[in-house]
Amino acid sequence: MHSGLDHDSLVHHGRDERRGAIASRHWWERPDLAFRDGSLSLGGRDLYELASTLGTPLYVYSRGRVREKLERIHAALEAERIRHRIFYAMKANRYEPLLQHIQSLGLCGADVCSPGEMALATQTGFSEEEISYTGTSVSNADLDAIARHPDVWINCDSLSSLRRLGERCPGRRVGLRINPGLGIGYGVNELLRYSGSKPTKFGIYESQMDEALQIARRFDLSIVGLHVHAGCGYLSPQLAVFDAILDAIGRFSERVGDIDYVNIGGGLGSPLVAADPELDLAQWARSIASRLGHLDAEIWVEPGDFIVKDAGVLLLQVNTVEQKEGVCFIGVDGGFNIHIEPAFYALPMEVVPCRSAALSDESLQRVTVAGNINEALDLWAQDILLPRVAEGDYLALLNGGAYGSSMSSNHCMRGAFSEYLVP
Ligand SMILES: Cc1ncc(COP(=O)(O)O)c(C=O)c1O
Repeated sequence: MHSGLDHDSLVHHGRDERRGAIASRHWWERPDLAFRDGSLSLGGRDLYELASTLGTPLYVYSRGRVREKLERIHAALEAERIRHRIFYAMKANRYEPLLQHIQSLGLCGADVCSPGEMALATQTGFSEEEISYTGTSVSNADLDAIARHPDVWINCDSLSSLRRLGERCPGRRVGLRINPGLGIGYGVNELLRYSGSKPTKFGIYESQMDEALQIARRFDLSIVGLHVHAGCGYLSPQLAVFDAILDAIGRFSERVGDIDYVNIGGGLGSPLVAADPELDLAQWARSIASRLGHLDAEIWVEPGDFIVKDAGVLLLQVNTVEQKEGVCFIGVDGGFNIHIEPAFYALPMEVVPCRSAALSDESLQRVTVAGNINEALDLWAQDILLPRVAEGDYLALLNGGAYGSSMSSNHCMRGAFSEYLVP
């Protein structure tokens, strides 16, 4: 883990959404996430105030940002006249007030991957027809649960689950999760790729298609869709790989014949550091139109990260500031267990003080930000430049809205945190 306020990150990189706005000092600033009078605010709420009132660790999510991200995907696909549906991947964040907000927007269905998520989605108000289920290593108990929800869309990711679904629900409509043999993800990070030259557990390979079609025939299953999710966090530089994945879908579809939908999965990324470009959604949508348009199938997309990641921050309180052997350690009251993804996948986190009177270069100091877990890897950021902070101050970890609370553990019995929704 690395990042924070680097010299590079102090300059304005002119992202689209800020075009025309007053030049901001930090690459991540945008209208709803910015310093206002020296205080960091999200969705119009002062994060220092929230942290001191509600206590830390505290996840704060912005309703408005979530809506905006959903609307952006719709707009990009509509611009290419692509018939489409969005399913929010609730594994990214299942905080119930946030889920209720997403459901109430009426802009998407829900992508689920377990009976528990399916139950939560229905409880939140999504109808069966608005739920797409794509699991892996699916058990008979999972399939029994799916069988009790006949109108949920299911994508089988193995011949075994297809056969066992057929035994339970002959005649059901089903999608096949395919493995394109290509992976895609954030930068050159192999850890985030779900397929590639090394065989992975995800999806049915081209070499297995004959058998998949035989199983479908045996149980009178009607194959109505194809599904691909090949990795997480891709941005514009990865769109060439995205194109190749779409071409692979085209090849699989020739084997299956007419289908109603192609689910292109999630994986759309958000910039994590100053050097990251945005994902060019217009280009993304053009690729889909040009490569899949001939199939005349509805395009389904099931992002989690893109919708909620940059809508959320994790607020932590500084409890220790101490020099050790020339390194300035900033100790905080939350560790990697409450936001595991950066440690699991070696992803950078941007660390920002919630209050910052002076942000001149002179006030910056080189620090390492450390959590409160007794594990050597429990470092939020190493060797970063941060304005001087004191014990008692609050820090915000940006891009905390996805795979933070949903993946957290109670390691060292330090699993407690709160969540809060702002406009
Ligand atoms: C099948 C499937 N769909 C969608 C997603 C959501 O991915 P992301 O949050 O990167 O958009 C995942 C994530 O693991 C997934 O496995």
